[in-house]
Amino acid sequence: MKELIDKLAENKIISRDEFKVLLPCDEVYLHEKAREVRHKIYGHQIFMRGLIEFTSYCKNNCYYCGLRRDNTNAERYRLSKEQILDCCYKGYDLGFRTFVLQGGEDNYYTDDILAEIVREIKTTYQDCAITLSIGEKSYDSCRRLYEAGAERYLLRHETANDAHYSSIHPPEMSPINRKKCLYDLKKIGYQVGCGFMVGSPGQSIDHIVDDLLFIKELDPAMVGIGPFIPHSSTPYAREKPGDLRLVLNTLAILRLMKPNLLLPATTALGTLDRNGRESGVLAGANVVMPNLSPAQVRKKYLLYDNKICTGDQAAECVACIGKRMERIGNKIVVSRGDCVAI
Ligand code: SAM
Ligand code: SF4
Ligand code: FES
Repeated sequence: MKELIDKLAENKIISRDEFKVLLPCDEVYLHEKAREVRHKIYGHQIFMRGLIEFTSYCKNNCYYCGLRRDNTNAERYRLSKEQILDCCYKGYDLGFRTFVLQGGEDNYYTDDILAEIVREIKTTYQDCAITLSIGEKSYDSCRRLYEAGAERYLLRHETANDAHYSSIHPPEMSPINRKKCLYDLKKIGYQVGCGFMVGSPGQSIDHIVDDLLFIKELDPAMVGIGPFIPHSSTPYAREKPGDLRLVLNTLAILRLMKPNLLLPATTALGTLDRNGRESGVLAGANVVMPNLSPAQVRKKYLLYDNKICTGDQAAECVACIGKRMERIGNKIVVSRGDCVAI
């Protein structure tokens, strides 16, 4: 197993069968090696992103997500431009230099409204980066938002296997369009993030290998990996959550495949396991994304059950995550946290 891990770290070609051996393995050396590679590039610094969940309305109906339009139990809200700017104001003070605007696909926010929000954040906080995570948009809309000042875009591909994609989404959603959007975003100039859930219903180890190969080809700056966690008001209410070790091994393998990748230890990972984010960092992750959304709306942005941090203020999360990182020998830094060139 060690030889295989070294082979991956040396950027040698790994076969599908070798990935299939590595993914579920119980080998501490995989995480040790991933950490070593991360330390070489990013030291013990952990980048922080402020997540602003600005709308819980969504026109889509992804089978796995608590915000899907058919979930009539979900409470919906939208933040105004002023509320979003207030989150940035508080966030800047807490040391955030990246703001991630995330939401359901909500047509209330037209290109004009979004461009105005982006422009205003960018003019007020010139030393900050803006990431958008607002689903699939047209090439022209994405270009307008890029020109308004958004530099990064996070659009998880969800699964690179087209048949699997079609099994976890309704027929109107297309895996081809999802992938095309990612290539369009790169073409426009965005630093792009893709990603997927580990353990989504019907996912096999072969599908995860498809994901790894797709990521290699797309060559994104960031990859968001977290466990699938069921939501009680979705068609997948009775499905099992993703496996912790498989999430951690996927993170470690990605770190070895692309040493300078930005890899968050996600909130879903922290929900699956109380020390999930620490374990993620110890397996090679180098980003955390504490919640900056106003406390009164947090309980309404429920993608899955038992989501952590829904009762906390931004300052509490920053202090909590800072301590958690220090306990494992790492340090949160005040930085935009760009992907370094190697
Ligand atoms: N609407 C945008 C989109 O779909 O790209 C951005 C927001 S969406 C809630 C962000 C991510 O949440 C999705 O890409 C998906 O991978 C993740 N997600 C949704 N439901 C989930 C669940 N039940 N468990 C874990 N992650 C989930
Ligand atoms: Fe909407 Fe995104 Fe949830 Fe799909 S994953 S239902 S697009 S918020
Ligand atoms: Fe939110 Fe710990 S990170 S309370």
